[in-house]
Amino acid sequence: MPGANRRWHELARRPAPGTARSGQRWLRSFAWVRAAVLAAGLAPLARLVALGHADALGANPVEFVTRSTGTWTLALLCATLAVTPLRRLSGWHWLVRLRRMLGLLAFLYAALHFGAWLWFEHWFDVRAMVADVARRPFVALGFAAFALLLPLAATSTDAAIRRLGRRWRQLHRLVYAAVVLAVLHYALHKAGKNDFAEPLAWALVVAVLLGARGVAAAAASRRAAAARGSARQASLERE
Ligand code: HEM
Repeated sequence: MPGANRRWHELARRPAPGTARSGQRWLRSFAWVRAAVLAAGLAPLARLVALGHADALGANPVEFVTRSTGTWTLALLCATLAVTPLRRLSGWHWLVRLRRMLGLLAFLYAALHFGAWLWFEHWFDVRAMVADVARRPFVALGFAAFALLLPLAATSTDAAIRRLGRRWRQLHRLVYAAVVLAVLHYALHKAGKNDFAEPLAWALVVAVLLGARGVAAAAASRRAAAARGSARQASLERE
């Protein structure tokens, strides 16, 4: 396993700082955290199913489902992007163990969002879909964002992480482009009504997350350089 990749695996398995190394208790309690995050992530879908079952999706159910799944895709993409800066800034290394689940939940909602468009708007009519992508730039942007998420979901397994090694990290940087395209998709969708308040709020969230990532990465590399410096100093003093 290449070095960087092995470090990632070790980090993902490391118990939370301060937690007793009698791992069983930690693993059991962490299972609860994962279950809670999974339940929270699936709650919007359960709500849609319940509303659909009760025939309570409003006057335009297709629009309701498309908008709801689109919004949750964006929210979960942001939650996925928040993991690394939060982990770096807080030292809560266990957060990294939630990242894959959050990413896959984002992909689930993106697939449902895409599926609603594919099925309810176009009834799987490929010609109508191609025409829609060509006619409405905001749909083309959404399509591009979804296309970028496909290889990320396909390489989310441990086996793919091992197989791709260093290239896995490079590939998964596509998530930044996907989230930027998704915000542009939202903004263009709202452009027709000249209503940019919500897309702007999401753009701000994404900018803060990407900025925090940069700040946290710079702080981590400064800490690493300082640690290397003091190790070198200590070895010089010993000589
Ligand atoms: C990462 C992928 C995507 C994200 C994050 C995303 C997000 C969103 C958001 C936030 C909205 C607006 C919700 C609202 O008005 O409250 C939206 C609307 C929409 N999206 Fe996406 N989208 C994605 C991909 C796609 C794809 C692949 C398609 C179709 C090819 C698509 C088609 C649409 C359509 C047609 C609407 C308008 C729904 C309506 O107002 O009836 N989106 N999307």
